[in-house]
Amino acid sequence: MQLSKIKWINNNPYSIDFSDIYFSTDDALQEAEYVFIEHNQLKQRFSSLKNSHFTIVETGFGTGLNFLAVAAHWLTLAPLDAQLHYFSIEKYPLTLTDLTRAHALWPRFATISSEFLQSYIKLKAGNNIFSIAEGRIQLALQIDDISYALPQITQKADAWLLDGFAPAKNTEMWSNEVFTQVARLSKLNTTFATFTSAGAVRRGLQIAGFKVDKHTGFGKKREMLSGVFTGNAI
Ligand SMILES: C[S@@+](CC[C@H](N)C(=O)[O-])C[C@H]1O[C@@H](n2cnc3c(N)ncnc32)[C@H](O)[C@@H]1O
Repeated sequence: MQLSKIKWINNNPYSIDFSDIYFSTDDALQEAEYVFIEHNQLKQRFSSLKNSHFTIVETGFGTGLNFLAVAAHWLTLAPLDAQLHYFSIEKYPLTLTDLTRAHALWPRFATISSEFLQSYIKLKAGNNIFSIAEGRIQLALQIDDISYALPQITQKADAWLLDGFAPAKNTEMWSNEVFTQVARLSKLNTTFATFTSAGAVRRGLQIAGFKVDKHTGFGKKREMLSGVFTGNAI
């Protein structure tokens, strides 16, 4: 297992290997809320859930900020007897020290974070299952390369959080093979959201069968993408 190499700049994590930030330095939590939660309509979907579970797949677990933000909404809004299945893939997990430092940035998630961090100590290569909040949330964190990990998943997603580093710096996370897997694990009306508006990502997702929309981006980003799976490749 290869751990991430991080440099802290103004108390924000920065990847030395990818020369990129993990999240917006404008306001990381607001970015997660705006890009991933709002553009997948997660709050509305959690509150009106009729099924026994809801499945999210995230590419790039990083600090787990998206996970913490989604989990907090789930615990507030979803029916008590429903379970969130959150799959996330990460090739270069943060050290426990870096992860603990990152989580300290968001004290409102302290309860979920401390439960998660207790098990993170035992993190291993391959699949790691975390049962959180008395089983209301199941996190399956796969420590592998995206190209190996995505084909292992069999459960279709209700929503995708596409969150690799910037496509120009992290091509493996945004390849056509990845988009083909995203489509395989999608059903009619599965949604996705991502901070990037790179043309190759837009076209790749369209070819894979998503209707893709552009929106105003968060912070310094001009545009972002979200969309819905129709199965009709353009
Ligand atoms: C922008 S960060 C993710 C931020 C994260 N969602 C959060 O809430 O902090 C992108 C992540 O993708 C991971 N990554 C990069 N290349 C990868 C690959 N080939 N396979 C799996 N994960 C990869 C990086 O290690 C990094 O943690």
